[in-house]
Formats: sequence, structure tokens, C-alpha cells
Amino acid sequence: MGFAIAIDGPAAAGKGTISKAVAAHFGFAHLDTGLLYRAVGARVLAGVDPIAAARALVAEDLEDAGLRTADVAQAASRVAVIGAVRAALVDFQRAFARRAGGAVLDGRDIGTVICPEAEAKLFVTASAEVRAARRHAELVARGAEAVFETVLAEVKERDARDAGRAEAPMVAALDAVVIDTSDMSIDAAVSAAIAAVEAART
Ligand code: CDP
Repeated sequence: MGFAIAIDGPAAAGKGTISKAVAAHFGFAHLDTGLLYRAVGARVLAGVDPIAAARALVAEDLEDAGLRTADVAQAASRVAVIGAVRAALVDFQRAFARRAGGAVLDGRDIGTVICPEAEAKLFVTASAEVRAARRHAELVARGAEAVFETVLAEVKERDARDAGRAEAPMVAALDAVVIDTSDMSIDAAVSAAIAAVEAART
């Protein structure tokens, strides 16, 4: 029997780092579901219809290194409000969640819509300013030109769109353990996440 861990939360809260570390700790597979929406967003920027792009998506599309840009992130959150896009991506995510060896999925709606029966649920968050500072540092480290105020405005814009949409809005599941990483080191946040999953296992 598999074991599913749902990790949701806003942009740059630390979900990705925590999810990878939790998956490595328990020997589970990891799916960054944001990449699905980013891959669809990238296709839309190239002129493809969003619903057609979502239906045609294959696992290899998630390996495209170009999916990490700020433009693709905004395009992802715009296609993510479309119900038919979300519907086209459900089966892939649910199949991943139920793989035999255990799975960690991170996103916005994993604990609420994709996998409400997940054995462990976390909601990882942080203040918008801290998240923008982290994303800014990430972009600069990657050699991109980034202005902090612009990154902060984009983070807030995406938060509002993700939390305000009618379809699968970003919200903590009622039974999720909330981890606010604003004042936490990466190690402390990872330890808190592993402890929460351990508590759910017993
Ligand atoms: O890495 P970051 O947190 O900046 O973003 P991401 O997780 O790659 O997600 C990009 C966008 O995809 C988000 O802003 C959401 O609009 C959308 N998304 C979603 O709607 N549902 C998910 N499960 C994952 C991402």
C-alpha cells in the first residue's frame, strides 16, 4: 500500500526544498505539480491553446529547464484558473500519489482536491516579503536580472490569483499541519516537516 504526502503552499515558501528532503528521507518519489502548470503555461506562451496543451502533456515535458522563469510562472498561474486545464492534469497526479513505494506531491491543491485522503498533509508558508527575497536570490543566482520590488509584486499577484480562483483555490486543508518558514532555517523547516509526517505515520 502506498503512502501519500501532500505539501501545499504559496510560491517560494520552501515547498520544493522541503518536499525533496522529505521524499529523500522516506525513500519516496517526488512530484513538483507546479511543473505541470508551468509546462502548460510555456506552451501557451508559444501560442498553443491551454486546454489542448494540458491534454497533450507527457512526463518528459516536465524536464524542460526553461520552465523556471518568472514569465512561465505567471503564465502557469493564468492557465491554472481554467477548470478544463486542471481536470486534464488530475489523473496523472492521482496515479503518482498512489504509486506503491510512497509519494510526495507539492503544489497548491494536493491536500484539498488531488489527494484529500493523503496520509500526511502539510501547508508550508512564509510572509510575502521573505518569499520574494528568496525568489529574488534564486533568480540572481541563476544569472537572471531581477529587481526585488518586481519579484515581490509578482509573488503577491500570483498569491491573489491562486487563492482567489473559483477552481481548486490555494488554501490549507483543515487537517494540514501548517509550517511557517519565515524565521526558520532550511534545516529547521525540513526537520519540522519530517516530524509532522512521522506523527501521521504512527
Ligand atoms: O515554484 P513556485 O512556488 O513559484 O510555483 P509552482 O509551484 O511552480 O507553481 C506555478 C503556478 O502553478 C502557481 O502559481 C499556481 O497557479 C499553479 N499551480 C496550481 O494551480 N496547482 C498546483 N498544484 C501547482 C501549481
